[in-house]
Amino acid sequence: MKNKILVINGSVSPIEKSFSVALTNLFIDEYKKNDPEAEFIHLDLNTNEMAGKTLTRENMGTYFNEKDSMAYIEQLKDVNKVIIGCPMNNFNVSGIVKNYLEHVLLANQTFSYKYSKKGDAIGLLKHLKVQILTTQGAPFGWYLFGNHTEFLKGTWEFMGAQVNSPVLLAGTKVAPVNAMDPKAAALTVKDEVIKAAKSF
Ligand SMILES: Cc1cc2nc3c(=O)[nH]c(=O)nc-3n(C[C@H](O)[C@H](O)[C@H](O)COP(=O)(O)O)c2cc1C
Repeated sequence: MKNKILVINGSVSPIEKSFSVALTNLFIDEYKKNDPEAEFIHLDLNTNEMAGKTLTRENMGTYFNEKDSMAYIEQLKDVNKVIIGCPMNNFNVSGIVKNYLEHVLLANQTFSYKYSKKGDAIGLLKHLKVQILTTQGAPFGWYLFGNHTEFLKGTWEFMGAQVNSPVLLAGTKVAPVNAMDPKAAALTVKDEVIKAAKSF
């Protein structure tokens, strides 16, 4: 069966200047070498109305609707792999990624508390394999209280997905990476990308 892969762009940077877009493109190039038949579906959260909507008291009653929630949950059920590119923005995922997750993390659709042990849930997206590709301005370890890579890994696993080894391109705001263009910067983690692409 042909792999159907959803590629999510969660960076708020211009496409040509985005480190996570360059990392995602490098990953896709490597992945295609092993799976040339795969079909890619692109979801750019910047140009997506749903990803601009934040949950508030005012919209709580209508937030999880067919167009904004169910359509994207159906999209996750329709593909068998997800590649998500996401920078660190203020110690966490970008707001557009948080809004996306808010819409698809829906009880009885992507996870269930039924039949689960105390303090545990059952993920309902067991068919999904996820590749996380993250970037951050600071080198890894400068502030471990903000670990968007682990947050994403745990969140997709909560929904039942099998998460491949994430690739983090860290230190994009400090030397030597800050002097590189995004494509060259992505190449600094090429070995990890090749390894991840082979096991994805
Ligand atoms: C609004 C904003 C907030 C940011 N917050 C952080 C942060 O908390 N920690 C960090 O290490 N880098 C932070 N950065 C830097 C980005 O993580 C870094 O530039 C990253 O490479 C951006 O990836 P992108 O080019 O794919 O958007 C921030 C950037 C922006 C635009």
